[in-house]
Amino acid sequence: MTAITTTPTAPAVRSAPTARHELLALLGRTPLARITAELPGPHPGFWAKLEGLGAGGMKARAAVSMLLGARERNELHPGAPVVESTSGTLGVGLAFAGQALGHPVVLVGDSELEPSMRQLLRSHGVRLEIVDRPAAQGGWQAARLTRLRELLAALPGAYWPDQYNNPDNIAGYASLAAELTAQLDHLDVLVCSVGTGGHSAGITGPLRRRWPALRLIGVDATGSTIFGQPARPRLMRGLGSSIHPRNVAYSAFDEVHWVGPAEAVDSCRRLARESFVSGGWSTGAVARVAAWAARVHPGAVVATVFPDGPHRYLGTVYDDDFALAHGLDPGAAATRPVEIPHPRAAEATGWVRCARVTDPLAPQERNQ
Ligand SMILES: Cc1ncc(COP(=O)(O)O)c(C=O)c1O
Repeated sequence: MTAITTTPTAPAVRSAPTARHELLALLGRTPLARITAELPGPHPGFWAKLEGLGAGGMKARAAVSMLLGARERNELHPGAPVVESTSGTLGVGLAFAGQALGHPVVLVGDSELEPSMRQLLRSHGVRLEIVDRPAAQGGWQAARLTRLRELLAALPGAYWPDQYNNPDNIAGYASLAAELTAQLDHLDVLVCSVGTGGHSAGITGPLRRRWPALRLIGVDATGSTIFGQPARPRLMRGLGSSIHPRNVAYSAFDEVHWVGPAEAVDSCRRLARESFVSGGWSTGAVARVAAWAARVHPGAVVATVFPDGPHRYLGTVYDDDFALAHGLDPGAAATRPVEIPHPRAAEATGWVRCARVTDPLAPQERNQ
């Protein structure tokens, strides 16, 4: 059995906070930057939506959408607590949505959650519970879900948004798609990191109605099982998963890339040095793939989403001691992907591309 401990000093859930609807006016409306930094070589340039510059970050869009949807269906009553498992980004988004809509927020994180993120979440009034060891089956995510279920049972009226399977997560990105449609004259290739699958699914539908030939490239982490690779312990957070989220729109993807931490670190640092805007693991990964896409599709308009900014990663992605301790040599990072014919043809330990995307839980895939 998995032993789980909680933070002993965790405060009780606050009584219902006052809803501050005026905050909703701050949601989204993020800038689009032209990226020309060498990644790692020259490329024609691509567009990056800087979601880290929006109030509550990229996931505030999903958080507001999920809480409003639950309120409409009467699954969430005014002032009732919201409980979720998160490694950070959705937590900040829920802190924003909780304040805007008047709900106390309880988050279940794990020991790997950075001290600065814990501090930030608590500063925004969140009650934070920390699980201290991964489950034997399903890793940290499964351990967090076990604790989450205990909290749901203990807190009257508590609502669990379940970002991995809630269609309102996807729906929350309609605003991001609308902004991209207004900011771009044309789009040929969209590159998206995949964690819950929310933003890739939510943007691609509306964008394909405007530009039907749009190609979607998914970017996953090495060691993630989302696209059919074996689940392994992962250094990178944000993108990737040790489960199969139902929000991943498998049929929407034209190809998938798995990117390793050395490629992400090298790309983040290059972005910060040469294009000023940068971010964390997912930003580094999508930037490298977007630069590659711009290179191999000459003349194509390529865009991607930078889910957050660099601040959370100063002690990891941007720290030389961290890189050394984890055997990451940005100078030795792959400059192009290795091709595989099927997601299970070989295990990706560095940058790998596959032009065939399948749902690992589809019956024909499970029987292979
Ligand atoms: C920093 C970061 N990047 C990317 C993602 C992946 O986004 P999505 O869950 O919409 O697939 C997440 C999700 O948690 C994230 O936190």
